[in-house]
Amino acid sequence: MNTKIKKILKKKNKSKIVCLTAYSKRIASILDKHCDIILVGDSLGSVLYNYKSTKEVTLKTMINHSKSVRLGVNKSIMIVDMPYNTYRNPKEALKNAKLVMKETKCDGVKLEGGKKIIPIVKNLVKNRIPVMGHVGILPQTDKKFTFKGKKQKESDRILNDTKLLEKAGVFSVVLECIEIKLSKQITEKVKIPTIGIGSSVNCDGQVLVIDDLIGMSESKFKFVKKYVDVSKIINIAVKKYKSEVQKKQFPKTKHSFKN
Ligand code: KIV
Repeated sequence: MNTKIKKILKKKNKSKIVCLTAYSKRIASILDKHCDIILVGDSLGSVLYNYKSTKEVTLKTMINHSKSVRLGVNKSIMIVDMPYNTYRNPKEALKNAKLVMKETKCDGVKLEGGKKIIPIVKNLVKNRIPVMGHVGILPQTDKKFTFKGKKQKESDRILNDTKLLEKAGVFSVVLECIEIKLSKQITEKVKIPTIGIGSSVNCDGQVLVIDDLIGMSESKFKFVKKYVDVSKIINIAVKKYKSEVQKKQFPKTKHSFKN
């Protein structure tokens, strides 16, 4: 495990871990100053490509975006989502995760799932690939996106899955849309940092999709907070540009070349 990851692990019970998604260099370089973890999430399928589900995201797409993100990341650790159907068994997962690590120079990969993926996680960790887990709502396979932990049986399963993932060697785990008391219980029961999305302040850190935070998406999820409306700013700039082009106010001589 690299020293940057070790530093993040030490934050548990001391200071909150800040994580955001990025899909390209420029945004990544802005986030890098503020984040501990930058995640190249397969959420890019819906955010950038308008896919109905993350199932459509390919390994090639993840690698291409991650290469761009890599150019903007220096300080933070960069984690890449392994897309759907690229880690169906230990052998396939190792082959694909090795490719992702080699091509993107990322610090680790993230996989969705609990008990079922334990042999896969173990094989990656054995081969020195840092793995981040992901429990709660699993966008790659869940049919319904309702919060988890309504029933005791479900809560027990998620807690057990997280403990199994910890034992298998994940360095951290994303908790997606997990009920408040359950996220507290999980965070207290495991030694690895929990990173929440829609899982309350009880987690060791938080993650959001950057486009949601800056107002560049149509996301209406309860757990999203829009901190700024960048689309409004773009609108103002483009309107002004259009008007200046139409009135021949742009470009001026200073924007032009003259012998
Ligand atoms: O794909 C993604 O962006 C994610 C985060 C939202 C946790 O998995």
